[in-house]
Amino acid sequence: MQQSIIITGGAGFIGSHVVRLFVNKYPDYKIINVDKLTYAGNLANLKDIEDKPNYKFVKADICDFDTIYKLMQDEHVTGVIHLAAESHVDRSIKDPFTFARTNVLGTLSMLQAAKLYWEALPEKYEGKRFYHISTDEVYGALEIEHPEILFTEQTKYNPHSPYSASKAGSDHFVRAFHDTYGMPTIVTNCSNNYGPYQFPEKLIPLFINNIRHRKPLPVYGKGENVRDWLYVEDHARAIDIIFHKGKVAETYNIGGFNEWKNIDIIKVVIKTVDRLLGRKEGEDLDLITFVTDRAGHDMRYAIDSRKLQRELGWEPSLQFEEGIEKTVRWYLDNQAWLDNITSGEYEKYYESMYANR
Ligand code: NAD
Ligand code: DAU
Repeated sequence: MQQSIIITGGAGFIGSHVVRLFVNKYPDYKIINVDKLTYAGNLANLKDIEDKPNYKFVKADICDFDTIYKLMQDEHVTGVIHLAAESHVDRSIKDPFTFARTNVLGTLSMLQAAKLYWEALPEKYEGKRFYHISTDEVYGALEIEHPEILFTEQTKYNPHSPYSASKAGSDHFVRAFHDTYGMPTIVTNCSNNYGPYQFPEKLIPLFINNIRHRKPLPVYGKGENVRDWLYVEDHARAIDIIFHKGKVAETYNIGGFNEWKNIDIIKVVIKTVDRLLGRKEGEDLDLITFVTDRAGHDMRYAIDSRKLQRELGWEPSLQFEEGIEKTVRWYLDNQAWLDNITSGEYEKYYESMYANR
């Protein structure tokens, strides 16, 4: 079937991989990337596909209901893959209102626009889909002492940061639109992604860039927190499978069964950067600088993605060693992309965040 799909947040990290995958894989679909281009949105992430005939970019704020509703009508939208969000936990601690506005009200605006547009059609919700991309952080934190316990789709929501609280709020609205209006919704909760085009305020690209420039590596607390890392293209593949084959009203957890203590992953990144730059492997380990912990820092995230593997046949394609090598190489080969972002406003922001630790 021909589809006309709005992908929100397509100029961001994960969104750009999803847009690229859909534009290349489905030449008969119309892919409309709706993005406000906040500090995190960057059209340079999509240079390779921007001229494709099945791709269109629309600069818009998801909170702008009138614009989104009109776009749904004009483009005869059949599906929404909703990724646009404020995504950085540290920023949410400083500015929670922006997170509530974009993540909660913005999601509500997308839902309401889709509802009004689809309910007015003769076929109503038939053949339609609203797919909301969420995070494992809504489940709260796990204990290091109980490695056998993972987040499942049944785990109760227990968010701790303004970011995760706002994502939890948006997830509840999506499910409420299914239960109240019958909208065909799906929610997925994914673990930490890594790979090309990630904004360099996040751990892995920030540290790669700092190692290259021999700047300090600010490790929060003792570096003992655990995250479950998934290569971003594996997340994009999961989104493709779930959008097409996932069951309406279901939740799917997405993760790589790939838990790492921050300090251990940081050592791997340092050694990989050193090796690829022709430095002595490990010579930059002394850049590690322990700084004040993140407020409310969740100790451990770990996703049980067996439901997705069992029911839809998805599994991660890359071993972590291969993924991290590819990732480090990409950032080292794309210094101009990093330099464009790290000069100017962002540099001032980073210096002030670092100084406050
Ligand atoms: P990102 O910060 O890199 O990109 C977010 C994008 O949304 C940017 O292009 C930005 O311009 C756009 N945006 C922000 N506010 C907007 C608004 N009001 N209107 C329109 N566009 C707006 O984020 P990401 O890391 O790619 O995350 C994408 C989604 O995936 C988010 O919903 C996030 O919660 C979720 N997620 C991320 C991860 C991860 O590890 N990065 C893991 C699980 C889930
Ligand atoms: O779990 C999924 C989530 O992963 C997504 O929902 C978020 O959008 C995404 O940003 C990410 O959140 P984290 O807070 O886990 O990612 P971040 O890269 O900010 O931090 C990863 C870990 O590294 C975390 O324990 C904090 C620590 N850290 C981070 C930075 C930026 C440091 O020690 N030093 C740092 O400078």
